[in-house]
Amino acid sequence: MVCDKIIDGKKISADIKEEIKKETTELKDSTGIIPGLAFIIVGENPASKVYVRSKGKACDELGFYSDTRMLPSSASEAELLSMIISLNEDENIHGILVQLPLPEHINEEKIIEAISFVKDVDGFHPQNVGRLAIGSKGFLPCTPYGIIELLKRSKVETKGKNAVIIGRSNIVGKPVAGLMLRKEINSTVTVCHSATRDIAEVTSSADIIIAAIGKAEFLKADMIKEGCVIIDVGINRIEDALAKNGYRITGDVDFNSCLEKCSKITPVPGGVGPMTIAMLMKNTICSAQGLIYG
Ligand code: GUN
Repeated sequence: MVCDKIIDGKKISADIKEEIKKETTELKDSTGIIPGLAFIIVGENPASKVYVRSKGKACDELGFYSDTRMLPSSASEAELLSMIISLNEDENIHGILVQLPLPEHINEEKIIEAISFVKDVDGFHPQNVGRLAIGSKGFLPCTPYGIIELLKRSKVETKGKNAVIIGRSNIVGKPVAGLMLRKEINSTVTVCHSATRDIAEVTSSADIIIAAIGKAEFLKADMIKEGCVIIDVGINRIEDALAKNGYRITGDVDFNSCLEKCSKITPVPGGVGPMTIAMLMKNTICSAQGLIYG
């Protein structure tokens, strides 16, 4: 049955959030600690506001404390840095998330490095990036972490399999490649990017394909092997005259053509997307429990 092939990210993320909710109650009952997550938004980016609102809603659902701070787009780098420093010292806060992108006059790298790595629940700080690379404990970036959970909970065999990642971003491609190489996953990993000579040649021998290239419906059925597993990280808006608002959201995979040929696939929406927030919550509860840095 075709429906059995679809990896339901909504359901899996709901299961994870239910587990976190229980852990939150246990933590509160045994220690009085309430997981606390701070969000900072600089400027008026509407998408950033939507993302932060849904992360805040997840905090409410799970019994976390959350604190959203808004700065105008005219805010200086120094103002943002001093806000981060006060949150680094705030013992009610276990995770700090500065929503990206930042206005152009603010140096993103400097801001990420100012967040204490023990509260870096986004997993973007070089300390956590380095720990991922050498396989030691640290915060994992939420989307790659969510992809690994999707594969594990969908019982996808990864050991010795050819995993092909399309895209080499710092947020998805590179970290997910590092995770797929870990001993407990044990895949053989290839990363394709804009200078790869023949992506279709590489993907056609892949057992697992992770598409994170940011191009609508890039991966077609004639580029894949029968029975492969496809994880679609893309979120693209494409014009659709038949849709109510004139557009629809689609992934980096041509879902309809690949569905027949693959053994498992994530839909867009409802695949990787909901997992990102679930893993942000997971990182925050782990931080509050002292499970990452003690
Ligand atoms: N902007 C888009 N996605 C993310 C994310 O996961 N974390 C942060 N901090 N900013 C984002």
